[in-house]
Amino acid sequence: NTDTHYYFTDKPEAEKRIKPRQKFSHKGTFGHAVLIAGSYGKMGAAVLSGKACLRSGVGLLTMHVPACGYEIAQISVPEAMTTVDESEKYISEAPDLGSATAIGIGPGIGQAPATAKVLEKILGQAKVPVIIDADALNILSTHPHLLYKLPANTILTPHPKEFQRLAGDSSNEYERLEKARVFSSKYKVIICLKGANTAVVLPNGEVHFNSTGNPGMATGGTGDVLTGIITSLLAQKYAPADAAILGVYQHGLAGDRAAEARGQTALIASDVVECLGW
Ligand code: APR
Ligand code: MG
Repeated sequence: NTDTHYYFTDKPEAEKRIKPRQKFSHKGTFGHAVLIAGSYGKMGAAVLSGKACLRSGVGLLTMHVPACGYEIAQISVPEAMTTVDESEKYISEAPDLGSATAIGIGPGIGQAPATAKVLEKILGQAKVPVIIDADALNILSTHPHLLYKLPANTILTPHPKEFQRLAGDSSNEYERLEKARVFSSKYKVIICLKGANTAVVLPNGEVHFNSTGNPGMATGGTGDVLTGIITSLLAQKYAPADAAILGVYQHGLAGDRAAEARGQTALIASDVVECLGW
């Protein structure tokens, strides 16, 4: 087993990972993100992750949504292309991934059996980096054989409850972090254990604690924003560890700017999207 090494992501640590945009670059340079998100009543999660993905520099975005979400996605996120699932209320088929440079799956998708099959298919086919969040994590918990199908360096972004479903109970935060270390090295995945000072746990034993963010971000939808950011960075060919560490930092930084502008209490996830950028 590898030793654990602890790091703290402050401004210089984050900024040294940023790749500047070159003068002669074009949208092809910045990749094509495919986000699989949304279900009836949870299209907001898809919209928030889509907007955050675009605001984080991706070249092209396709959102794959259930049929009930078609107009919502096209109107709310006009910069994105939308592909429509044959199912009205949830995701039941995998989109075309031929030109994808990264795949994000989970925000608002629910846990229909057909959606679980889509996750399994994507894990079997994916040739590009994948980030798994929200109900896609809960599907992993209820279908644990899928854990063995996760491509190396897949990024998982559980909040404490989702992590408990994946890895079992922890009596304190130290034990939870230790469980994440074991889980990460066993399945060779990157885990962003979300909360105050989100810990990014790498399969090589590194744990990177984030310095940004505030309790104003404890409000529905901010997790979906993080998924969009990290999907965007993966699509731009940031190495998965850099995408996770930098994405978590930028998400917290945007949350801090949003709290500065309007206070923690009034902060909503859309404000975090509006404050993205570096
Ligand atoms: N300090 C700093 N950051 C915080 C704090 C805090 N006190 N509390 C929360 N955050 C950040 C987390 O680090 C994380 O990035 O806010 C985000 C919250 O993400 P989620 O818990 O995933 O919340 P979200 O997904 O937006 O909630 C909507 O989706 O995952 C499901 O079950 C979840 O019903 C919930 C829904
Ligand atoms: Mg969430």
